[in-house]
Amino acid sequence: MNVLIVGSGGREHAIATMVAKSHHLTKLYCAPGNGGIGQIGECVDIQAMDFENILSFVKEKAIDLTIVGMDAPLVGGLVDELEREGFNAFGPRKNAAILEGSKVFSKELMKKYGIPTADYEIFHCPEDAIEYLEKAKMPIVLKADGLALGKGVLICHTLEEAKEGVHEIMTKKKFGSAGEHLVIEEFITGREVSVLAFVDGKTIKTMASAQDYKRAKEGDQGLNTGGMGTFSPSPFYTEEIHDFCQQHIYQATVDAMREEGREYKGVLFFGLMLTKDGVKVLEYNARFGDPEAQVVLPRMKNDIIEVMKACMNGSLHEIELEFENNAALCVILASKGYPETYEKGYPIQGLEQLKGREGIYVFHAGTIKAGEEFLTNGGRVLGVTAKGRDLKDAREKAYMSVKEITFDNKYYRKDIGEQI
Ligand code: AMP
Ligand code: GLY
Repeated sequence: MNVLIVGSGGREHAIATMVAKSHHLTKLYCAPGNGGIGQIGECVDIQAMDFENILSFVKEKAIDLTIVGMDAPLVGGLVDELEREGFNAFGPRKNAAILEGSKVFSKELMKKYGIPTADYEIFHCPEDAIEYLEKAKMPIVLKADGLALGKGVLICHTLEEAKEGVHEIMTKKKFGSAGEHLVIEEFITGREVSVLAFVDGKTIKTMASAQDYKRAKEGDQGLNTGGMGTFSPSPFYTEEIHDFCQQHIYQATVDAMREEGREYKGVLFFGLMLTKDGVKVLEYNARFGDPEAQVVLPRMKNDIIEVMKACMNGSLHEIELEFENNAALCVILASKGYPETYEKGYPIQGLEQLKGREGIYVFHAGTIKAGEEFLTNGGRVLGVTAKGRDLKDAREKAYMSVKEITFDNKYYRKDIGEQI
């Protein structure tokens, strides 16, 4: 099969690594891809939102399967466009990807179907939101309705902060049209767990659990980022919790979407919080998590193309997902200053010596190939994943490998997986 992956991050490199192992693969392309993906497939210079050129490319190269890794093209309807022309695409259609694309939609769905989530109110203008906040308990959480590069959630500790947040989101439109509607949500506390699942419209099968670290600095300080590290499995996600979620959250969500005439096929990501009042859904994503994919996929034993085909043709019930009985931990190497301003263009050393080392994966995110070397080309540069007997072993191996890679302005958190 000829396969095209749409996206350019560490997640897409992890997907590409699994696809490259599949017996069904003939040729792998990635649009636009990155330096690392270019080592296992051919990167094509087409941006993920350039649907017209993606479609022409799929026709020209007779692509048998297009895997859409990123949120924006899914929410924008790339899968629908490919299917309309008769091509196979993995990922939810536009009317199902709205589960990630609109927080208003997802909260209303959870309320309607009794899926546990934090209490909330929806607002369509800043005046009403501020009036509500005047009487609300702090801290409180503001969520811009639409996609905002993972930055549209504000946790506000004082009324002043919350009012400022409403102005930023709804009046100044800091996140563009994502701020036309606003969810104001009760602040809840507990451990967070990410659970990714394959879905074929009816059946849902979960992958191994994971935990990610969103803040830039050690001790969960600093700004929110796209993710600074992750590990799998989460020791806090017990079988008992899983059984509860399978019935009341995972299957309930898939059934609710079908009931709404929005059949969900693809990967569905559940951001969960384990609160003292039980498990609650913080968010849905319509795709693999990043960096979660960088620890979950290396542990998966199945042929990923077979699983994706089963999701597309409704036969997921025939597949048994299998994961290695081990652990994986990923440390993100970023450019100093991320997620704000940072410099790019520095040569990366040490990649060659890690190549082919058992149980070690270096997933590229912001890199570019220049001649024989790789240069830094983004805020998050690399994800270094190690597998180990258990989390402690994986952690030791990951941090040992991290030390072997050097580049100017290299920054990483030293406490990924520390308190487990
Ligand atoms: P989201 O994009 O909705 O997952 O939100 C990003 C992060 O904000 C989550 O991973 C949580 O750490 C935090 N968060 C979101 N909603 C809440 C909430 N209701 N209470 C406390 N923290 C939250
Ligand atoms: N790691 C969270 C996400 O992919 O949105």
